[in-house]
Amino acid sequence: MILQITKANSLRGEVKIPGDKSVSHRGIMLGALAEGTTRITNFLQGADCLSTIDCFRKMGINIENKKEEILVHGKGLHGLQKPDSMLDVGNSGTTTRLISGILAGQNFTSELTGDASIQSRPMGRIITPLSQMGASITSINGNNCAPLHIEGGNLHSIHYDSPVASAQVKSCVLFAGMYASDGGRTSVTEPSLSRNHSELMLAHFGADLTSEGTTASIAPEPVLEAREIEVPGDISSAAYFIAAGLLVPNSEVLVKNVGTNPTRDGFLRVCLAMGADMTLLNERNDSGEPVADILVRSSHLKGTVIKGDIIPTLIDEIPIIAVMAALAEGQTIIRDAAELKVKESDRIAVMVENLAAMGADITGTGDGMIINGVSHLQGTRIQSHLDHRIAMSFAVAGLAAEGITSIENGDCVKISYPAFYDDLNNLK
Ligand code: S3P
Repeated sequence: MILQITKANSLRGEVKIPGDKSVSHRGIMLGALAEGTTRITNFLQGADCLSTIDCFRKMGINIENKKEEILVHGKGLHGLQKPDSMLDVGNSGTTTRLISGILAGQNFTSELTGDASIQSRPMGRIITPLSQMGASITSINGNNCAPLHIEGGNLHSIHYDSPVASAQVKSCVLFAGMYASDGGRTSVTEPSLSRNHSELMLAHFGADLTSEGTTASIAPEPVLEAREIEVPGDISSAAYFIAAGLLVPNSEVLVKNVGTNPTRDGFLRVCLAMGADMTLLNERNDSGEPVADILVRSSHLKGTVIKGDIIPTLIDEIPIIAVMAALAEGQTIIRDAAELKVKESDRIAVMVENLAAMGADITGTGDGMIINGVSHLQGTRIQSHLDHRIAMSFAVAGLAAEGITSIENGDCVKISYPAFYDDLNNLK
């Protein structure tokens, strides 16, 4: 599907942001391993989270998807059954890496695979620690990517010094640590703190989980108890509406129900550094996660430097930050973000290709981008590379650009935000 976006003169109104993708995945996984029924509200009905549901159903977990709520009938830490076919994670890296930690602890063999993007994303980063814990996990094509073959069971605890700040790697090892049979704690230290939803949710379900600085540690054999989970709105989805409100003239947009967990809020800090007119309202707490409504008005943005420890707290927002930077005054430098090359697409190459085609002054580097703001962008044909965050970033760019912006395979937004274009059009 080719999606067409035209320039907007003004955006006004409010948008309620759908549930957080990371929290939704974890709610299904820990709900499945808990004793009793976990009720999840504001669950993200995106394709990635539905893939997680499918995988656990294949392992014998009854999951009722009533749309306004999800009921996960957990069977306890050792209640999963061997799936009778290969697990299909679709496009979801989070499903792949987190579920592998759980599968490594099972006393059955399993295999998982996903789409072309998943089959080219690096899995060596989880194969290494899981192998150290005693799991036998192999890349079936021998390229350290999915499909994966996992022979679980008989794990022992480790301390893992992760070379990457990745919540997926951290969560994978902590989940496997629940199955360590030597009685020891499993811990992970990462170079900078990545999102801590797994740690918060494991503690919420009753696991003995401690976090100190960039190290998280878990005791084995927790008895997880079913919980109520109210999923906060996804700040990664909110970012497109915040950016649109800032970039389009004469705009005032209230973005409601945004999760503002400090391990995820780097985008808000960057907006402020760029001079955004942005106010947090109605700050509150949902199931241990901070939430706020965010009011934005059109702003004259300025360039900034983004590097170091803030990167993991905004890694998924860098494509939309690049769009903002392309229209900001002065230079924006993004460094320490080489991880962008191994997301759903190579987000450095794809942002450079598409933004340059719209007339931006952008240069890709080995670990980021250098962007010199220009006065306007020109609509053109954009390749989404089937990456939901690329499609949404260029939908916003299209609202601020001259002429028509066409996005190839624009419907890939269904991965994390099925109603994205409707919600955007409602503000016009
Ligand atoms: C996620 C962690 C991040 C992020 C992804 C979701 C998670 O990936 O990019 O969209 O839910 O744990 P990495 O762990 O690879 O940085």
